[in-house]
Amino acid sequence: MSEGKTGLPGVPPADLPKDLIDLDGLSERQITTVLDTAMAFREVSEREIKKVPTLRGKLAVLLFHENSTRTRLSFEIAAKRLSADTLAISASGSSMSKGETLLDTAKNILAMRPDALVVRHSASGVPKFLGDRLPCPVLNAGDGAHAHPTQALLDLLTLRIHKGRIRDLDVAVVGDIAHSRVARSDMVGLRKMGAKVRVAGPPSMLVPGLEEEYGVKVYDRIEPAVEGADAVIMLRVQLERQKGSLFPSSREYARVYGMNLERLKLLAPDGVILHPGPVNQGVEMTPEVFESGRSLILRQVTNGVAVRMALLYLMVESPEGPPPEPRQSR
Ligand code: CP
Repeated sequence: MSEGKTGLPGVPPADLPKDLIDLDGLSERQITTVLDTAMAFREVSEREIKKVPTLRGKLAVLLFHENSTRTRLSFEIAAKRLSADTLAISASGSSMSKGETLLDTAKNILAMRPDALVVRHSASGVPKFLGDRLPCPVLNAGDGAHAHPTQALLDLLTLRIHKGRIRDLDVAVVGDIAHSRVARSDMVGLRKMGAKVRVAGPPSMLVPGLEEEYGVKVYDRIEPAVEGADAVIMLRVQLERQKGSLFPSSREYARVYGMNLERLKLLAPDGVILHPGPVNQGVEMTPEVFESGRSLILRQVTNGVAVRMALLYLMVESPEGPPPEPRQSR
């Protein structure tokens, strides 16, 4: 990518690393620049013609080795709204299903001269492995239980829009912390941006050392964790990543750790609910909470497009100049 790029009035240069593997590698200033840039691109998605020429002639390859709805579609929409071409590849429809290694697949993709590679994989470390070997920017779209940086960025953007700031917010992250790449990236991003973070989950879904590693407060009950919280991020129960049963039943999980209308009253009066999706309805939260005015879950999805537009814009060389003016950062 070009050094010092934003081209946006009032937005400092981004100088992002070549690859986006997790938020550990970004400073508060770099994250702020991504969020400011995303604010500019939110406006594009509200237009009748939802397209700018910024990445005309560029190719973004979306390599998804694991199922996805929100991340894959929003990267695809983001690239298209920037006028880039996209090529989506999944494991089942590619030669990976015939035994071709990931690196060979990537080298072959590279031979087609992409300008960015977006990767989701069930194994932690795959985006870094590819980023270290390929010259184009690699964006991690979720790798195993390691990291999901674009999800954390869209969570930060959603909080900033709806709470007016991130610094000093009390944010609780509740659920399957041990198996969640979203939890990890959220903890890193929220702490970098100055939020106070509490995490809660069944002891079987927590890991030792979270306090020291992330600077968070840990609870094994949901009630004290969400009391007075400005925002609660409810995590999906990662049924596909659990080895053995970590709680007796989904019904039991909902009873002890799920968000319901009674528990919603424990939050700050204007406290909001987030969830990365897909929601296990009736497990992590009741349908009443999902549908309530306190839920920002579908707005997170909308903001995901803007964040991914910002990242593609900042990380891919663009011939067409800056996007529209951003709104002021807060
Ligand atoms: N939040 C998220 O990663 O959702 P998908 O698995 O649908 O992409």
